[in-house]
Amino acid sequence: MAPGLGLAAAPPSMRVVENPGVGLCSTTHLECCSGGCSSSIATVFHLNYGMAGKAVWIGSGTRDREVVSVWRRYGHGKDQGRGKRVVQCLGMSESSSRKDQQAGIVRIFDVEDPRGASSSLKKGTIDVNTAWELLRQDVLYLDWKARQDVLTIVHAHDKVVEVLNPLVRDVKSVETLRSELAGLQEELSKAHAQVHLSEARVEHTLRKLGEMESLFNTKLLQNQGRERGSTVPKATSALQLALTGEAEADLSARPRTNTSRAKSLEVSGPIGPYPAQLKNYWYPVAFSADIDDKTMVPFNSFEEAWVIFRGKDGRPGCVRDSCAHRACPLSLGKVEEGRIQCPYHGWEYNTSGKCEKMPSTRFVNAKLDSLPCIEQDGMVWIWPGNETPSTNLPCLNPPSHYTIHAQITMELPVEHGLLVENLLDLAHAPFTHTTTFAKGWDVPNFVKFRTPIAALQGTWDPYPIAMEFKPPCMVLSTIGLEKPGKLNGSDVEACPTHLHQLHVCMPSSKGKTRLLYRMALDFAPYLKHVPFIKYLWQHLANKVLGEDLRLVEGQQDRMERGANVWNVPVAYDKLGVRYRRWRIAIESGDERIPFSSD
Ligand code: FES
Ligand SMILES: [Fe+2]
Repeated sequence: MAPGLGLAAAPPSMRVVENPGVGLCSTTHLECCSGGCSSSIATVFHLNYGMAGKAVWIGSGTRDREVVSVWRRYGHGKDQGRGKRVVQCLGMSESSSRKDQQAGIVRIFDVEDPRGASSSLKKGTIDVNTAWELLRQDVLYLDWKARQDVLTIVHAHDKVVEVLNPLVRDVKSVETLRSELAGLQEELSKAHAQVHLSEARVEHTLRKLGEMESLFNTKLLQNQGRERGSTVPKATSALQLALTGEAEADLSARPRTNTSRAKSLEVSGPIGPYPAQLKNYWYPVAFSADIDDKTMVPFNSFEEAWVIFRGKDGRPGCVRDSCAHRACPLSLGKVEEGRIQCPYHGWEYNTSGKCEKMPSTRFVNAKLDSLPCIEQDGMVWIWPGNETPSTNLPCLNPPSHYTIHAQITMELPVEHGLLVENLLDLAHAPFTHTTTFAKGWDVPNFVKFRTPIAALQGTWDPYPIAMEFKPPCMVLSTIGLEKPGKLNGSDVEACPTHLHQLHVCMPSSKGKTRLLYRMALDFAPYLKHVPFIKYLWQHLANKVLGEDLRLVEGQQDRMERGANVWNVPVAYDKLGVRYRRWRIAIESGDERIPFSSD
């Protein structure tokens, strides 16, 4: 912003010139120096911007000096040549020629022609103080303007960098998004909190209203009873029915709700430690084919770390995965001649856990914990319990005419019981497995699991699938296929081809399961020899399991927050409920275990 200065009458040594013409210097110097100023120095003035439409010339000099003005245009449009201008006064000899004068001017400034000579001149004068004040104001203005310009340049520079450097632009946009996101999240959480608060308040109010209504109705009935003697009014509300004794008859006529069947189980709250009773079983933990004489298979069982490897005789052993010396995980080491070698100081242990080599020091007796470990049906089994191992192992093999095509091991982030219950449930398939095996399935009017009264096995209706739960954590299923890959009909036996599945859900650590999956077919045995087909099976298994997992994980979360996962069991939940009843009985140490021949 330019300072707005008015110009007082100029002293004789100064001139105020409006729209000076080309010939100004020669025609005005004698008049402008009439004040007798003795200064001979040149002076530059930036003229007053407050004089809209007027150009002001300020100069100083003596009679023996020439005063020359040079004009530079600053105005634009209609103001061009009339607004802001620079004036320079040069001291020059009176005798100097006009040519010399102009040459001197040109040497110092890039002079621009003033407007045409036809411009009219108006004269005026200002005193020195005013002129210096003008100068000071102008310097201040120029200083301000320079800062503005620098700022403009900095902004322009930033813009250029932003345009030319995508990284800077990206960083900026990401940061902007982050801050906006943080703001939105904060608003969202506030809104959530508000909604929860409102819900709680509404619920509280409704409860209070219900209580008040009950009190009111009770009082009303009592009053009416008193007024009408033995006459009982016609009851309309549930409370009235209860009071009049009609409720029982009325309710008994209604179909009983699922909750009223009193068959719900309480399975809720945080996952607790595994009870010892659950450990007294044989558990398959690895496929035999996955362990050669150099292989170690580390795994967790009931929250303890173990490792399986083969001894000198080729039989598998299971020892604690923690060195007796200084607790280094042995599974980080290697297997050499039937011994597992610790990678820290080289101690070596056999399959029963006895230390047989202790390099670089005098040998001392050291032994690892170990578990009973056997190999059967193509799998390695352990006995994690403290009781004497049972001699009975369940048979998990498919019938002999089946060919095993896939054996897959996975670690899953869900509690093993929830996974078992998921595998024992087929009613969820048309809703959950919509991109895999149940794609396009109709939703049946009624789904049932047909089973003998005290069994943990049966067949699904209307699906051609037979299913069985094998304690402690195995699920076997045989799926009837009308033709390869096609599920149809409802009779497993009547189907010409079949797919056999085994799921072993080993409790590994808290809220986690080690899953062994095996798939066999009673047709197309040549598929086994198709190169890389195991990756196809792996992909399919992962996809199917992925559809289940997100739901079971969510279920586990709700359970840990207190929801009962068996709140309202219905007809098709029969097998899952039986598994849960079996498990509750085992964990409670019941004398009689349901659905068990033991
Ligand atoms: S920690 Fe295993 S040998 Fe030292
Ligand atoms: Fe499923």
